[in-house]
Amino acid sequence: MSASTSSTSIFSRLRAAPDVLLSGLAAGVAVGLAAVPAIHSACKLLCKGPNKAAQCPFTGASASSSSSSSSSSSSRKRPLVVTVTGAGGQIGYAILFQIAAGRMLGHDQPVELRLLEITRALPMLRGVEMELEDCAFPLLTRVVCTDDEEVAFKDCDIALLIGARPRGPGMDRADLLKANAEIFVKQGRALNKWASRDVKVLVVGNPANTNAKIAMENAPDLPKTAFTAMTKLDQLRAVAQLAVRAGVGVDAVRRVVVWGNHSDTMYPDLTFAKVRRGDGREVSALEAVGGDEKWAHGEFVNTVQKRGGAIIQALQKSSAASAANAAVAHMRAWVLGTAPGEWVSLAVCSQGEYGVPPGLIYSYPCTCKDGRYTIVPGLENEIDDFGRQKMKASWEQLQQEDKEWRSGQK
Ligand SMILES: NC(=O)c1ccc[n+]([C@@H]2O[C@H](COP(=O)([O-])OP(=O)(O)OC[C@H]3O[C@@H](n4cnc5c(N)ncnc54)[C@H](O)[C@@H]3O)[C@@H](O)[C@H]2O)c1
Repeated sequence: MSASTSSTSIFSRLRAAPDVLLSGLAAGVAVGLAAVPAIHSACKLLCKGPNKAAQCPFTGASASSSSSSSSSSSSRKRPLVVTVTGAGGQIGYAILFQIAAGRMLGHDQPVELRLLEITRALPMLRGVEMELEDCAFPLLTRVVCTDDEEVAFKDCDIALLIGARPRGPGMDRADLLKANAEIFVKQGRALNKWASRDVKVLVVGNPANTNAKIAMENAPDLPKTAFTAMTKLDQLRAVAQLAVRAGVGVDAVRRVVVWGNHSDTMYPDLTFAKVRRGDGREVSALEAVGGDEKWAHGEFVNTVQKRGGAIIQALQKSSAASAANAAVAHMRAWVLGTAPGEWVSLAVCSQGEYGVPPGLIYSYPCTCKDGRYTIVPGLENEIDDFGRQKMKASWEQLQQEDKEWRSGQK
């Protein structure tokens, strides 16, 4: 790891090691000059220096790596720029170390972390940066802490939009939508302007589907397929519930589907799910739970829909470790692909599939290959009336959220 743009870190390092690289970078940030050119020049120096990443993410230039823990085949790949917003929050703290350890993009893929926070959280973020440094992750080429969207999103390959406004005292739902709309309008525009044209965006901050739609609409030069929201956590929760009920391990379960909005209208669906029994035979989920349709349509759906709330009640704060785990799994599936026969729940832009109004960010079963996702086709005939009604209730809620945030903009 080589540099940071967080001013506290720069100043402390300047005192300790006043080299030309850090002073160039610090000058850009500290006096409020354009930080990105400063990063560019810093990066050139880095790439020439010993002990650093093999390829500069900004210039693309190769540099030989003369030492070190990272001088394996991994150092020959261009580091991917991963932007994490809300990096100083609970989920941020749980996810950064997994990304840096290679769990998200592969154990041979170097990464550069760009951590975006609100200004007052930057000093605290410096602590996280120090911990990242102290892990000496071979794949982590660089950490940049910033409150500047241009610095955060410049050429980013992967954007995890986690930071969002929580509901404060006296805030109603419309206020919450409005406060978050402001954040995601701004970040959508910044992505449009600065991100790689191949960027993959995952929105985690709630209301995740609507925030993803807002960001997407404010990034007209990026493909709509670049924007997704997270329902992988709901899918994993559903897999775990089914496995417990069927008395099998989670790895014996596949094709559990979550449709719709990441909210209490989501529809966790067992229609297509398969369970491998102890004897190796694969059966339908319904058969695996003894034909208990009442459970599949009632308790199962309810438990998954309300799981987030149950965790808040028990923990007195929202789920963070499991959310980080799910975000890693979402991105890993999208970038590295799904295994044959595996479906991943991704909330993606509808083009009318399964009757969902086009333009909504809706959770579908997907497969992924070569960095692209495909909504699983041809399931219509197996969806029953119960399922159709649940799927519709969820898209109607998304339409309502869309109306609400738009009316808050007037
Ligand atoms: N989709 C899901 O499955 C899922 C699951 C769990 C949590 N969430 C949501 O994820 C979000 C983050 O959760 P958390 O527990 O980490 O919250 P948190 O409050 O601990 O952290 C949020 C961080 O975002 C930062 N932030 C706020 N506005 C920002 C902005 N404009 N730019 C950059 N950073 C900003 C805050 O300073 C804070 O550090 C919440 O909205 C939560 O509801 C979603």
